[in-house]
Amino acid sequence: MSQFEGKAALVTGAGSGIGRATSLALAADGAYVWVTDFDKASADRTVEMIVGQGGRAVSVKLDVSVEKDWQTAFGRIDSGEEALSILVNCAGKSILADSFTMPLEELRRVMAINVEGAFLGMKHAIPRIAKSGGGAVINISSIMGLKGKARMAAYCASKGAVRMMTKAIALECADLKNNVRVNSVHPGVVDTPAWAKHDADEAGMMLGSSGKQASATLDVHAVAKALVPIGVAASAEEIAATVCFLASDVARHITGAEIVIDGGMTAD
Ligand SMILES: NC(=O)c1ccc[n+]([C@@H]2O[C@H](COP(=O)([O-])OP(=O)(O)OC[C@H]3O[C@@H](n4cnc5c(N)ncnc54)[C@H](O)[C@@H]3O)[C@@H](O)[C@H]2O)c1
Repeated sequence: MSQFEGKAALVTGAGSGIGRATSLALAADGAYVWVTDFDKASADRTVEMIVGQGGRAVSVKLDVSVEKDWQTAFGRIDSGEEALSILVNCAGKSILADSFTMPLEELRRVMAINVEGAFLGMKHAIPRIAKSGGGAVINISSIMGLKGKARMAAYCASKGAVRMMTKAIALECADLKNNVRVNSVHPGVVDTPAWAKHDADEAGMMLGSSGKQASATLDVHAVAKALVPIGVAASAEEIAATVCFLASDVARHITGAEIVIDGGMTAD
């Protein structure tokens, strides 16, 4: 029997990259998946891919930074037959910017998506997961939640907050004995469409003198060559495999923990 048979999962930011790969992996292992994204068309496409591989999923438009969106999504979920067991907080935003000229509003937007989004997900999902008999929350943080990086103050602050919020809520669940485990995953450089959203100026900020490149956008392979000790980027599927491990019963003694997947970036 597939390990997530009879279980349902909600994944945010599931229209692209790690969220899409995670949705596909959970569904391939038997989970019913609520594929959520603020870009509904991209969530629809992920659902098509899941259905195409014989899985079960439905797409939901959800901006993680808007509490009303969570309430609406759960209104729909509560009226269905599937009980929630797994939440993956994956939606995220990164910015590269000079901290001394960056408008405050940009920091607030990063915090609203990365921190408030993960908080709202846990606030609304964990009581439901507990009611369904227990399960797991996986928050996608970053190695930037473990170490600093110049011109990434907002992103580092947000991912560090996700890391500590994970631990605090894991202990709150443990206090309640509600059988909900909460862990964070910290990728380094992952080959997803996120990198192409940064322009050449930002590439210079990220890579410094080691990263001169011809393309107009940030090339993930150039980044990996310059910054990852093993020289290659992770695939989204590799991150998804770790999320599935943390969501599974094999990980039943793991809570409040962080798993780093970074090709050695934080090993020094
Ligand atoms: N790609 C990497 O190298 C890397 C490294 C470390 C951590 N991460 C983290 O992994 C997560 C996923 O990143 P990715 O690389 O797959 O990015 P991606 O750009 O491929 O996908 C992100 C998805 O999130 C959605 N999204 C953005 N804002 C949203 C919001 N407010 N509400 C709902 N959906 C929203 C986007 O529409 C998109 O579909 C992020 O939290 C990111 O910070 C990525």
